[in-house]
Amino acid sequence: ESAERKNEAKNYSEVMSTLPKVKGWRGYDYYLYQGFWYDTFFLEGLVSVQEHFHPQSTDIFVASSPKTGTTWLKALTFAILTRSRLSGSTTSSLLTKMPHDCVPFLESDLAQDPSNRDLAIPLVSTHVPYSCLPQSIISSSCKIIYICRDAKDAFVSLWYFLSAHQRSENVEPLPLEEAFELFCNGIANFGPYWDHVLGYWRASLEFPEKILFLTYEEMKKDTAAHVKKLAEFMGYSFTLEEEEGGEVQKIISMCSFEELSSLEVNKNAVHRAPGTSIPIQNSVFFRKGEIGDWANHLTPEMGARLDDIMEKKLKGSGLKL
Ligand code: A3P
Repeated sequence: ESAERKNEAKNYSEVMSTLPKVKGWRGYDYYLYQGFWYDTFFLEGLVSVQEHFHPQSTDIFVASSPKTGTTWLKALTFAILTRSRLSGSTTSSLLTKMPHDCVPFLESDLAQDPSNRDLAIPLVSTHVPYSCLPQSIISSSCKIIYICRDAKDAFVSLWYFLSAHQRSENVEPLPLEEAFELFCNGIANFGPYWDHVLGYWRASLEFPEKILFLTYEEMKKDTAAHVKKLAEFMGYSFTLEEEEGGEVQKIISMCSFEELSSLEVNKNAVHRAPGTSIPIQNSVFFRKGEIGDWANHLTPEMGARLDDIMEKKLKGSGLKL
């Protein structure tokens, strides 16, 4: 097995050496692989899971571009799926573990160790674009739930998140304007952002029973309707008794920004951030949780520029974001 691993490592560095690369947000290189930009850590994870990962037939994937509502969607799907054990310890995991420690990431947690999960909880998350997912997931009967968000808010959220990483590594954060320029050129973790969104959007039109496409904005506007829709799509519909008993509302409250961000674990504990040995504060995953906060950080011109790019890229797709 170790010979095989060595061979793999060699193949991997050969692959890497042929890929286009640029200086990314955090001072290290981003590589263009199968149409999307990755840092070395996630690229290595992706190549590995493309080759080795096999889902359970019951697995449900929570997919997203970074900073579009992953943490919230993980919390909601986890709470929906484990609610029948409310009196047991599983649901309360959300009270003591941060959502990222309840639902593992495919390209980091599971790439490093496929057994890094509780098989009884068929939830896996991923930032991998649809077209780059392991074939074993595409050809499986597994369901996928995708969340995305206004590009301007996603950008601002990403900038804050990566700046926090950089500060913890004692590196000067990339100035907002420079990061914005990269983002507008498609260069961001798992970007171009529009191609990430379009891949899942088109797949959701083609396979509506396999892929549920959601936006952060819709979820915020009518969380109850979306939690019910999520549960139904996942095959864990609420019973009439549950609805009458306020179960939907209970889950919404437990997973709300206010509730999660005020838990001790999410306020003061640290998360082993993938790709770096430096732990990151869980609180960094809970910044503001609002729609339209971009306007406090970008000029109207910057906003209009990104809107224009998104409109052009999404034109003809039937999606408005
Ligand atoms: P802001 O930076 O705009 O506040 P991700 O989970 O994909 O990393 O996305 C992070 C964004 O989701 C952050 O947005 C964060 O504040 C917000 N968020 C985290 N938990 C949330 C929750 N329970 N409800 C709504 N938004 C949440």
